[in-house]
Amino acid sequence: MNKNLILNLFKKKETQVPLWFLRQAGRHIPEYYEIRKKEHDFVKFCLNKNLIIKSTKLPLKYYDIDAAIIFSDILMIPWAMKRNLKFLKDFGPTLDPMIPGETKIIKNISIASKLEPLKDSICSLRADLPKSISLIGFAGAPWTLACYMIEGKGSKDFIKTRKAIWSENKWFMELIETLIQYVSEKLEMQAKAGADVLMIFDSWSHMIPNNFFSEYGINPISRIVRILRSRDIFVPIIGFPFKAGSSIIKYSFESEVDCVALDWSVDLSWANSFINKDIVIQGNLDPASLIPKDSMYLRNNVLSILDKMSDRRFIFNVGHGLTPDCKIDNVKKVIDIVKNYRR
Ligand code: CP3
Repeated sequence: MNKNLILNLFKKKETQVPLWFLRQAGRHIPEYYEIRKKEHDFVKFCLNKNLIIKSTKLPLKYYDIDAAIIFSDILMIPWAMKRNLKFLKDFGPTLDPMIPGETKIIKNISIASKLEPLKDSICSLRADLPKSISLIGFAGAPWTLACYMIEGKGSKDFIKTRKAIWSENKWFMELIETLIQYVSEKLEMQAKAGADVLMIFDSWSHMIPNNFFSEYGINPISRIVRILRSRDIFVPIIGFPFKAGSSIIKYSFESEVDCVALDWSVDLSWANSFINKDIVIQGNLDPASLIPKDSMYLRNNVLSILDKMSDRRFIFNVGHGLTPDCKIDNVKKVIDIVKNYRR
């Protein structure tokens, strides 16, 4: 039986570079649209065991990769909190915006029972997938979830959320505290169902005012890690402080994650010098480099990432999600380069 490269890497045993891709299960694979057609409403899609399993397994049909990420969405926690989540075509997610200081924060929801199809899918997938494939469970970080819940949609600057920190700090802290509990519960449920790695996406961490970075970008993550450890969940945890710049260094020492995922803007030589050497690094290929056909730069860029990370424990990945126009042939080419790379 093949080895599980990702788990071995966390046990400090592996020399071969494992790989998988953020948003590997989505819209760049034409077959996804066939599965997607079966349920028009994306929230219902994320609650349908059969469709979750099919979408999670889809990239494994095309690619020789070391992990499958469970098909779900970070916004399923706000959905469980009754924020009226909808995904509008060509627009993205919308929710009923929370009014800082006014909207009541619901505290007694059982996330595990609201997201039971997710748990059941993980149980079935873990039993079904080869042991060499890591099954990755995930959640959004409290800050990023708060951003969507206050704004009610995506935003270029999340100004309402940033204003709430300054004007309604007590309420804002209460929201973050509640989300720490819910995110922990969602991750715990996934690990207990069989996820062997967990990932926390902080997609909007670059919106946190710098003087609050520890409070909202790091402390909630270390709280979640400690809650999980106190509940006997010892699977590796990957943190992704997207585009957090120089704050990534502090994050790598203080968030208590086992691996930090790097976006495409990070200089790997800088990362190598300053990021906590005790933890694993993941990332940082630009997903846009996988869009052009026959790109002349792709090969050298992949090799340059591998060379720069050659003395670190490293998981090859993109520095943000694959886009719908990403080419399957380019992904296959990257896999071939990484799998044949010898340190
Ligand atoms: O391949 C995978 O990783 C599948 C699982 C997955 C999805 N969303 C499915 C999805 C994961 C890990 C996510 C995480 C997610 N969702 C994040 C964090 C990562 C990041 O991109 O920064 C965020 C911010 C969201 C919120 C979200 N969900 C947005 C903004 C959108 C619309 C725009 C977009 O990127 O698609 C979604 C919808 C969504 N989530 C789709 C998929 C496959 C597309 C929905 C469809 O098929 O109609």
